[in-house]
Amino acid sequence: MHINIEKVSHQYETKQGMLPVLKDLSLSIKRKGFTAIVGPSGCGKSTITRLVSGLIKPTQGSIFISNKKITSPLSTVGMAFQNPVLLEWRNVIKNIILPLEIVSKNMTYNQKRSNALDLLKLVGLEEFENNLPSELSGGMKQRVSLCRSLVHSPEVLILDEPFAALDAFTKEDLWDVMHKLKKERDFTCILITHDLREAVYLADQVIVLSGRPASLQYDVKTNFNEEKKISDLYSSEVSQLLATLRNQIEIAQNKND
Ligand SMILES: Nc1ncnc2c1ncn2[C@@H]1O[C@H](COP(=O)(O)OP(=O)(O)OP(=O)(O)O)[C@@H](O)[C@H]1O
Ligand SMILES: [Mg+2]
Repeated sequence: MHINIEKVSHQYETKQGMLPVLKDLSLSIKRKGFTAIVGPSGCGKSTITRLVSGLIKPTQGSIFISNKKITSPLSTVGMAFQNPVLLEWRNVIKNIILPLEIVSKNMTYNQKRSNALDLLKLVGLEEFENNLPSELSGGMKQRVSLCRSLVHSPEVLILDEPFAALDAFTKEDLWDVMHKLKKERDFTCILITHDLREAVYLADQVIVLSGRPASLQYDVKTNFNEEKKISDLYSSEVSQLLATLRNQIEIAQNKND
């Protein structure tokens, strides 16, 4: 599914009056693409995730998924956030099947469990099916959260800083888990991140947003290697790209109020 954001402006009503967050934002994400969105804090990145998932409507402009205008919340979207928000009283498998209980009411428990187990295997946690969230590390919880976001086979996956709270090496492990999930499940993905290395390692397109009200400032393809490896991040080609992106962030920050 390709996604088109067309001339979208959005403002929130606050006690101090209207707060313009997005201004005339247009961008397109190709079918099965992986797009990272970076930009200054508070510029409107999470707002974009809420707009694309249909949770809120833009003040102006439209968003299309496969040429169909989004007008209400979509079940074809999966989401994962910085905080994995797992239900503490449910074990791992029962946390993962939660979306199926909402969108696939006719599925038997065994079918739901089998879907969840396929994903748990992909993220390397098949032995933790019966564990409670309190028995997992932060990285493991985030793996479970990724499984839950994909269990209903969404066509679009939206990730809002899911790796931000993890230590550097756990983060790199999770990046490789993401590569694996993308290869096996092949969804269209939007990743919000503050980590430029993460953006370049995972995405095939990186968008830099300007300061608030955000619009598109910079749009670059990052397909330096089909099968990316961590060591690629130390190549001169990638270092150059990271420097360009860092510079773009600085430009965006200067525009910020
Ligand atoms: N429901 C809301 N009502 C009023 N203002 C809001 C609402 N949601 C967000 N905002 C404001 O809109 C702006 C953009 O918020 P948003 O969460 O989209 O930013 P962000 O780019 O995701 O920030 P961060 O990088 O810190 O996560 C912020 O100034 C925020 O205070
Ligand atoms: Mg945010």
